[in-house]
Amino acid sequence: MEWNEATCYLNGEFIALARAQVSVLDRGFIFGDGVYEVIPCDHVQPGFTAPFRAREHFDRLDRSLAAVRIANPMSRDDWLRLVAGLIARHPWPRQSIYLQVTRGVAKRDHVFPAGVTPTVFAMSSPWPEVPKEQIERGTAAVTHADERWLHCDIKSTSLLGNVLMKQYAIEHDATETVLLRDGFLTEGSSTNILIVRNGTLLAPRKTNLILPGITYDAVFDIARAHGMPCEVRAIGAAELRTADEILLSSSGREVIAITRLDGKPVGSGMPGEGFRRIHAWYQQAKRDDAARWRAELQRLGGGALAISSGIPT
Ligand code: PDD
Repeated sequence: MEWNEATCYLNGEFIALARAQVSVLDRGFIFGDGVYEVIPCDHVQPGFTAPFRAREHFDRLDRSLAAVRIANPMSRDDWLRLVAGLIARHPWPRQSIYLQVTRGVAKRDHVFPAGVTPTVFAMSSPWPEVPKEQIERGTAAVTHADERWLHCDIKSTSLLGNVLMKQYAIEHDATETVLLRDGFLTEGSSTNILIVRNGTLLAPRKTNLILPGITYDAVFDIARAHGMPCEVRAIGAAELRTADEILLSSSGREVIAITRLDGKPVGSGMPGEGFRRIHAWYQQAKRDDAARWRAELQRLGGGALAISSGIPT
């Protein structure tokens, strides 16, 4: 099955992605007035594809929705059923689930419309393996001033600032742009950035200036569990540039070493010991977390694929 032959979920129905349509007056289209999540689902054992940290993604969705004052249109269990339903409908061993909720369709007016039903859209796409080359040799990044707004903690679909910064990376022979605000590291255009100095894992605090990454949290959890010293604090540009290692993290790319920054080697210029250990721990963490998903599926019962609002499976 090709990605564009997928089945998606739109406002209560599973339909062909190619046929899915929303109104041009949807506030997601007009204003970028919506929030989203991306949930990686790995092939943790033969015949079993499990989302990683699904509950944490839905906790963050709740926080994003609350921040933009959209009522969550679905229960937690229905969201979990939707994830299970999408995975089951696609043959890809590794899937990336994208979901978004917008404020809904209304006459164009900046003011929140009254009595509007949010638009709910979700789809699955094949999730390619992280390129071996990037795991073994790392990747290049460039730096740029962080010119985005002051609510980067909301996972908003208004991503123009991020899109421009990702494009900047590509046009400068890199795969990520590392953003600096007032001389301090914030995050990447679509990743969190962590560093390793003298064996300690360091990253900026989760303030309004960065997205609280699910992968960031997972990396800290597993590093602490394995006894790696960890610290969360402000990281200045000079400290970033002289780090032994720089790592990027995201649901799609997992953990990758940034081995060149602005054309100069980071540390030895190759992925370091910190990266190698964290990468291995992370692979194990995905397999461990799959047990939680198995338990969720059992709890949701045989009807795991049926969403309670009567959606056909
Ligand atoms: N991006 N920071 C930004 C700005 C991001 O867009 C992302 C993720 C992250 C990492 O968050 P997480 O570990 O929860 O994936 C940090 C997603 C994957 C995207 O927009 O496609």
